[in-house]
Order: sequence, then C-alpha cells, then structure tokens
Amino acid sequence: MGFAYHAWNMRDNPIDITICPMNEADLDDILAIETASFPHPWSRTHFLDELNSPYAYPLVAFCSEGRLAGYICHTFLFDEGHIMNVAVHHDFRGRGVGRMLVERVIEECREKGAEFVCLEVRSSNHTAIALYRQFGFVETGRRKRYYHDGEDAILMEYEF
Ligand SMILES: CC(C)(COP(=O)(O)OP(=O)(O)OC[C@H]1O[C@@H](n2cnc3c(N)ncnc32)[C@H](O)[C@@H]1OP(=O)(O)O)[C@@H](O)C(=O)NCCC(=O)NCCS
Repeated sequence: MGFAYHAWNMRDNPIDITICPMNEADLDDILAIETASFPHPWSRTHFLDELNSPYAYPLVAFCSEGRLAGYICHTFLFDEGHIMNVAVHHDFRGRGVGRMLVERVIEECREKGAEFVCLEVRSSNHTAIALYRQFGFVETGRRKRYYHDGEDAILMEYEF
C-alpha cells in the first residue's frame, strides 16, 4: 500500500505519483537511476543493507504508468531522522517528485517523534540544497573533503 500524491511545479507538467516502501524487486530500476545520478553510486549491497536494517525506511515513487520515478532512503534512530540518499530519474526531474519524497520523509519522522532531520549534501549540489531549503532545512556546518573526490559536504538540519 502506498501514499498517492499529485506533484507539480509551475515550470512543468503535473504528475501523479504513489510513494511506497522499497522492495528488492525495485533494485534494478533504482541502480539505473543511482548510477546516472552520482559519481560514486551506492551498490546493490548497500541498498540491500538499507532494506534489511531495522533503522532504515527506504521509499520509492512510482508514476501512474508504473515507472519508478525516484527513491529516498532515510534512517530513524532515537529522536533523529537522517536522509541518506535521494534521487529522481532524469525523465521525471523538475516535476515535484523530489519534493514529495522529502516531504514524506519529514512527515514519517514527525509521526515517529523526531526532534530533527539531518543530511549531508555536496557543496556544489545547488539543486538539492535549494530543495532542502524550501522545506526549512538550514546549514549547520561543513565537513571538509567529506566525499571521495575531496569535495566538502554541507550539513543541513530541519528542526521540528
Ligand atoms: C535533487 C533531486 C532529487 C530533485 O528532484 P526533482 O524531482 O527534480 O525536484 P523537484 O521537481 O521536486 O523540485 C523541488 C525543488 O528543488 C529545486 N530544484 C529542482 N530542480 C532544480 C534545478 N534544475 N535548478 C535549481 N533548483 C532546482 C527547486 O527548489 C525546486 O522547487 P521549485 O520547483 O519550487 O523551484 C534531483 O535533481 C536528483 O535526483 N538529483 C541527482 C541526485 C542528487 O543530487 N540527490 C541529492 C543528494 S543530497
């Protein structure tokens, strides 16, 4: 069972998406998006670890035609949510899918009683930073040379 959303923005076409828990059967589509989206993509094993972790709640977004449009992985431990990964297929970008996924995670964390949600994002990833800022995430710090290629991570936090 999933949550149905009507996602859109002013730039592009509306899209109906359903957000539901990730399954192992989704991993081929997820890995295709992952490798197209990141210079150092997560492996199948990494996603399987998320699926099997008691602290991880990975979600996928399907469009009405049944294509996998995007996914988000977050953990929840004690009073802290942590967004670990989010990506949207190139064909569906700019249509509100990323926003819906982040919104769903914030809602899930709120329902579980989180004090805050945090994440790391590449300092050059202005698209993702703009997305998080829209929700009220604020920069709380910077990890120097956090990524394999030496790029800094910006630490961001959303407080309930
Ligand atoms: C970041 C990402 C998930 C956004 O997903 P998306 O579905 O395209 O984003 P949305 O359509 O929901 O847009 C939400 C907001 O993100 C920002 N945004 C999205 N596309 C943007 C672009 N091309 N340029 C600048 N900001 C952009 C805007 O603030 C936008 O709000 P607006 O529509 O009111 O302007 C997507 O670009 C992606 O998969 N990127 C590669 C993976 C990645 O970088 N993940 C983040 C890791 S921290």
